Parts: sequence; C-alpha cells; structure tokens
Amino acid sequence: MKVTVRKFDAVIVGAGGAGLRAAIQLSEAGLKTAVLTKVFPTRSHTVAAQGGIAASLGNSEEDHWHWHMYDTVKGSDWLGDQDAIEFMCKKANEVVIELEHYGMPFDRLDNGRIYQRPFGGHMSNFGEKPVRRSCAAADRTGHAMLHAMYQRNIKVNTQFFIEWLALDLIRDAAGDVLGVIAMEMETGELVAFHAKATILATGGAGRIYYSSTNAFINTGDGLGMAARAGLPLEDMEFWQFHPTGVAGAGVLITEGVRGEGGILRNSLGERFMERYAPNAKDLASRDVVSRAMVTEINEGRGCGPNKDYVLLDITHLPPETIMKRLPGIHEIAVQFAGVDALREPIPVVPTCHYQMGGIPTNFKGQVVVPGKRSQNEIVPGLYAAGECACASVHGANRLGTNSLLDLLVFGKSAGEAAVAELQQSPKAHKELPADAFAPTLARLNRLNTQKDGASVHETQLAMQRTMQKHAGVFRFADLLKEGVQKILEVQQDVARTEIKDKSQVFNTARVEALELDNLIEVAVATMVSAEARKESRGAHVRDDAPDTPERPDGRDDVNWLKHSLWFKAIGTEMSRLEYKSVTLRPLTVDTIALKKRAY
Ligand code: FUM
Repeated sequence: MKVTVRKFDAVIVGAGGAGLRAAIQLSEAGLKTAVLTKVFPTRSHTVAAQGGIAASLGNSEEDHWHWHMYDTVKGSDWLGDQDAIEFMCKKANEVVIELEHYGMPFDRLDNGRIYQRPFGGHMSNFGEKPVRRSCAAADRTGHAMLHAMYQRNIKVNTQFFIEWLALDLIRDAAGDVLGVIAMEMETGELVAFHAKATILATGGAGRIYYSSTNAFINTGDGLGMAARAGLPLEDMEFWQFHPTGVAGAGVLITEGVRGEGGILRNSLGERFMERYAPNAKDLASRDVVSRAMVTEINEGRGCGPNKDYVLLDITHLPPETIMKRLPGIHEIAVQFAGVDALREPIPVVPTCHYQMGGIPTNFKGQVVVPGKRSQNEIVPGLYAAGECACASVHGANRLGTNSLLDLLVFGKSAGEAAVAELQQSPKAHKELPADAFAPTLARLNRLNTQKDGASVHETQLAMQRTMQKHAGVFRFADLLKEGVQKILEVQQDVARTEIKDKSQVFNTARVEALELDNLIEVAVATMVSAEARKESRGAHVRDDAPDTPERPDGRDDVNWLKHSLWFKAIGTEMSRLEYKSVTLRPLTVDTIALKKRAY
C-alpha cells in the first residue's frame, strides 16, 4: 500500500467546534493548516448541541465568572482541576463575544444583548439559585456555531480534507508527534499529513453505549489513536447520561427545555425532582437528575405500558415561547416521540451523552503524560481539545453548556499554544521514522486478509450491550467485575473482525471496522477504570459505595481524590492503570473547598 507524504505546519483531526476554533487561530497566524474530517464540517456532532454556551455575561441578571467556577467545581464533584476551571470560566465571555463577531446568530434580548437561559447546576452567588448563564441560538446553538466558524475558516484559508478518516498518530523514537496517517474514505488513498503541530479534536465516543444521543460518527477516533500511540486516557470511568433522551430513540431533548420552565413528572404526575433537589429541582446537575429518574422508574413510578420512562412536561408554557425558543424540540418530539409537545408531555429517559474523560491535557491544550520530572510532562507536537480531551474541567460530572464553552476555550488555547510553539522557535519538519507507517499498514492488511473473522456489526453490538448493562447510570460491583471480563472478550473479537461485504461502496465496511478499533479502546478503558474506582463520585455511583455519614454520597476523598490514567497494552507493555493528583489550586483565587454536593 502506497502512502503519499504531504507537509503542513499543522494538522487538525476533526472539524467540530474545537477543531474549527483551533484552525481559526492557526490559519489567522498564517500557518499552513489542514483539517481532516469524516463529514462535512457543518455536519460534525457539535451540530447537535442545542441549549447554549455557558458564560457569565450577566445580560439578564447579575453573574460572575467566580460563581461559574464554583458551580463547575461543585458539578465536577471536586474531580475537576481548579486551575483549568478558573481559566475556562474567566475566558468564557471573551470567546462568546468573538463568536458573535464571527457572525453567530444568537437570540437577542429586547436591548440587543445576547439572550441567556438557566441550565442545570448553574447558580448565582455560590449556589444560591439558578442563574441565566447559557447563551443560546434558539435550540440550535451548535448548528449556528459550526456555520459561523466554518465561514471564518474559509475566510482565513484553512484547507479542509472532507471525508477523510485519520488512522494513527505518527510518533518518533523521542516521543515527538509528527502528524497523522489518514485514509480518504471514498478511494482508500493513504496520506501521511506530516506536521509540526497535531491537534486532536475528534469529539466523543458515545457510540460505545447502545443508547446514546451521539451521532454514528462519534467513535472515539482520537482516543483510539492516542491509546495506540502509548498515551494514557484519563478519567474514562466518568460518562454523562443526559436526563432527557427521547425514550426508545435516544435523540437529545435539550436541558434548555427545563431552563425555559419544563418539568419532569412521574406516572403519578408528581414533580419528583422536588424530593431529590429541593433547591434547584429540575435544574439540578445532570447526574443527580438522571439518577432520580432511574430511581423513579425502578420504584415503579415510570410511565407507559412498561413503566420505563418519565415525562417532560411543557404544556403549561406559552406556545409562543416554545415555538420561539424551542422550535427544534417541538419538531423532534413530533418526529421521534409522535407527540405534539404543546399539548402532551414528551417521554424521556437518561441516555449516554458525554465523556468527561479523555486525552490528558493542560489548560493550554498541550497533551501531557506522567514522566520522570512531573506528572504532567508535555508530549512535543501534540495538542487535544473538546470532548476527546480531558483538560480536566468536567471532573466526574459536566454541567450542561460547559461543553460548547470547553471546545471554544480549549480549541482556541490549543491553537494559540501551537502558534506560539511554531513561531517562537521555528524549525524544519523533523524527519519521519523509517517505520512510521508500519503499524497502520499491518492493521489495514489484517482487515483486507482476515478469513472467518468476527462480524463488525455484531461485535459492535456486543460491545454496546456490554457497556449499557455493566457501566450504566448506577453501577454494581459484581456487574462491573463481570463487565471487565466481557469487554476483554469483545476486544479479542475486534482484533479479528472481517469485512464481510467487500462489495460495499465508499469503503463503508472498512471505515466501520477501523472505527470499531477506536471504540473498543474507549470501552475497555471505561470498564477497567470504573471497576477499579471503589467510590461513588459524580456520574460514577456504585452500590458498594453508598451514602454514609463518614462518606457523604459515597465519595472517598482520602483514597480517591485522584485522576485515573489508563494505558493500553502495547508490545511487551501490559495494560495498566495509574493515578495522578487533582489540581486543587486555582490560578488566582482561593481553592474551592471540598464539601458534600447538594442542589
Ligand atoms: O441539553 C443540552 O442542550 C445539551 C447541552 C450540553 O450537553 O451541554
């Protein structure tokens, strides 16, 4: 197989919010920048983000970045790094205003300022009451954002490679990252994008679960590439289940619905969140709301013939508000739930939505690994931003609308850090190692020649069912243990998948098999890390770590206030878990002290 080499200053993998934002930074600096993407940029999964971007603009009521920071640390159940969280919350207003200047069509208040709505866990005055912090473009914020940033990229001459699948990082013996090897999906052509800076912005991997709000493209490609290159994946046990996926379909119903006044009800018609979160109610953080919903269902107060969902009620809201602020939701409810939300409540269930963990980075977007001198040594030439990265601002649970903020802030930071590196110490491209493409070619060769192998589709289904059953909203010690065995068995099948239908056009079957190589790394990292963490924290709640007076909510700060780092087995190196400490010291303000979370 022939590999053509093309040289760029920077290559970015992924054209969602983080990739596009990083690309703007690099191209505006005059650097030759390639962006590889599996789909047309404006169809990246950021398009599905509905409710808004968190920023303490204070357009409707008083707000402050320090309150936002407090909410984010609390939402993270204190696992978030407080330096990165301060950095993100302080930068929020700047990146939102920049986006406005790129032409983002935000909704407006009567005075012309950006419209803001309340969202779960975002409160004023250090947790007092919900605050309007989410900057929204109706319920299509991600869609609007992608269009604004794609257009900006066209203006600054970013080069897009559309329908290209990145396969592997290229790393030399010194550990420097020198670009990626990628495949054009239609033709199978292989190109090495030889770059001085490589930015992974490949989004999430929600497709490891059976029921997910994630697009089919969310296959953890950057995480798989990082793991195969010997880099760790951080805090992979923490997955967010969004409270309101359409029952049976998984499609997202934005939390903005509750921000606009929507209420969750059980089969008795009760507003049950009053019992679980007396202050914030339906606007408690997502892990709290999802667990409350599952508890209602498990205790027999679910709705429908099988009592397996609850209802999201907006029938009391003025129809004009719904059609102005939530037009997409009205459409989704009709299309996927068969209900007119103006008149009937929408059936919803918690659905896998977001990975809090990812490729470890500092708040500049530089990828970091434990080394001899520090627990956060920089990997030369490699950056990551957005959902595939773990800066760690979300810790054990992310607040809604902090994801779009994360990808803007850290997309920009990664771009800035790469520009600084390339411009401050300009140097030629390092030489590619002689065997740079060998592992990728071996993988492709195996796929082309495998006989009597496992079906890609069936293996993927087995992985998704295993994750759904063994690492869901509530976690059980015995199921986790069994889950590790099962997912390792599935991993063996993934290593011998066969492309059964070689007649398919556009290499679809080959692409799916290659994506499964990435998904399985994420699934194994998740299950192994979850089984090992013997406490409850944020979205990771275990039956054998219950709420007790000694350990409120089952959280164990003495033994488990630390980040997990999962390493894949490579060659003679065994797979392993390591841990590193959480950064509790912010940049300029006092540490937000540990306490029990309550909403
Ligand atoms: O509910 C939503 O609109 C999702 C937002 C988010 O995940 O941040």
